[in-house]
Amino acid sequence: MDQQAAKVILDGNTYELPVVVGSEGERGIDISKLRTLTNYVTFDHGFGNTSNCLSAITYLDGEAGILRYRGYPIEQLAQYSSFIETAYLLVYGQLPTSYQLSDFSDLFTQHSMIHEDMKHLFNGYPSTAHPMAILASMVCSLSAYYPGIDLMNPTQAQFDQIAVQLMSKIRTIAAFAYKKSIGEPFVYPEENLEYVPNFLNMMFSSPIKPYKIYDEVITALKVLMILHADHEQNCSTSTVRLVGSARANLFASISAGICALWGPLHGGANEAVIDMLEAIHRDGGDATKYVNMAKDKANTFRLMGVGHRVYKSYDPRAKIIKKCAHDLLNKLGVNDPLLEIAVQLEEQVLKDPYFTERNLYPNVDFYSGIIYKAIGIPKDMFTVMFAIGRLPGWIAHWKEMIEFPGGPKIGRPRQIYVGSNQRDYIQINKR
Ligand code: SDX
Repeated sequence: MDQQAAKVILDGNTYELPVVVGSEGERGIDISKLRTLTNYVTFDHGFGNTSNCLSAITYLDGEAGILRYRGYPIEQLAQYSSFIETAYLLVYGQLPTSYQLSDFSDLFTQHSMIHEDMKHLFNGYPSTAHPMAILASMVCSLSAYYPGIDLMNPTQAQFDQIAVQLMSKIRTIAAFAYKKSIGEPFVYPEENLEYVPNFLNMMFSSPIKPYKIYDEVITALKVLMILHADHEQNCSTSTVRLVGSARANLFASISAGICALWGPLHGGANEAVIDMLEAIHRDGGDATKYVNMAKDKANTFRLMGVGHRVYKSYDPRAKIIKKCAHDLLNKLGVNDPLLEIAVQLEEQVLKDPYFTERNLYPNVDFYSGIIYKAIGIPKDMFTVMFAIGRLPGWIAHWKEMIEFPGGPKIGRPRQIYVGSNQRDYIQINKR
């Protein structure tokens, strides 16, 4: 707590509210006692000014374009770390030793299969089912396969087990959902493949054609997963915390987060960006026309992948992903007209006062779809890729929420009622 306090004057009375100061100097007014003291609540549509927790997992500075996982800049982790190592860092707070990393990685291999009974669940879906619908329900269904674990109150060892199982199996579920959609047989995980190549193999190899895994593709996907791994209190992570605060188990809480991520204003934006770029391409590639549509208040069109609730400067992740997209397409010899359209849109956004005055810049979703598309991942799997990347962050926040001193407090926001005042019921003459 800070020495200074916030003074609130209401109805002629002055109230002092404590000020919380974070390790990076962020300040917050602690309103935990506001209603008790004043009978007032606050109103903050979209929670843009409201902190729901104290967290030590991720620090981001939207104005400065800074993003760090447990203090480590994402630029360094994206370049030097692995997705498994970053996942360990997020969940347990420290980088693993070589022994810890080796054991952690072995657990991923050990738990990559899903129960054979779960395969039958896929048969219940039409081939047209959106893979996010399958992912959300399959992740929640995993809770049915661990009867020996008290999921509502797992021990540390049990949490360690289900956390790894979830991070390992989500790949398998995602790849099986893709195979189901194209009518191909499921490809099982392989013991000798690491996290990313194992996923790629399950996605793209088939009984008649083994998949050749290029190092460039592995690197690009590893970078994307690391960059998506956490982002403090975004919509889906706050959903995981809120659902978990009711003591819902980890699988159910993560399933809720997957559903929140599906929204096109959140994780669904990467799919919406490619839809937008394809529409511009079909319409002759006139980026200016669509920039003007996005500026026109009479038009509901928005530039997908542009703007952010927190970043009021260039999303640091987008910078890395843009370079990664150019490098991968050059190495694969892919010439994607959508990348050229994206670059044209960005150039206009960065110099147009409509966008610069509103601090609207490309975000994490603007270029990621270009990479997924070059790898051969279909558009409706893009948000699934986001979920696979974000899972370590969701798990880390669920763990931090559960371990909060005194235990989780069930989330229960207040409201300002603006409906009808009391009125008496008058029975209509029934015919
Ligand atoms: C993610 O929170 C996270 O951390 C999320 C995420 C993560 O890692 O978890 O970073 C991932 O969700 C990234 C965002 C992906 N979504 C999109 O790319 C969808 C397109 N972006 C917008 O819909 C919008 O920018 C939001 C939803 C991202 C943010 O909206 P805000 O902060 O609520 O801003 P706003 O809607 O209040 O808009 C402010 C102004 C408005 O104009 P005015 O009323 O001031 O005239 O900016 C305009 C908006 O019309 N605006 C846009 C725009 N985004 C905002 N105008 C045109 N195109 C856009 N994309």
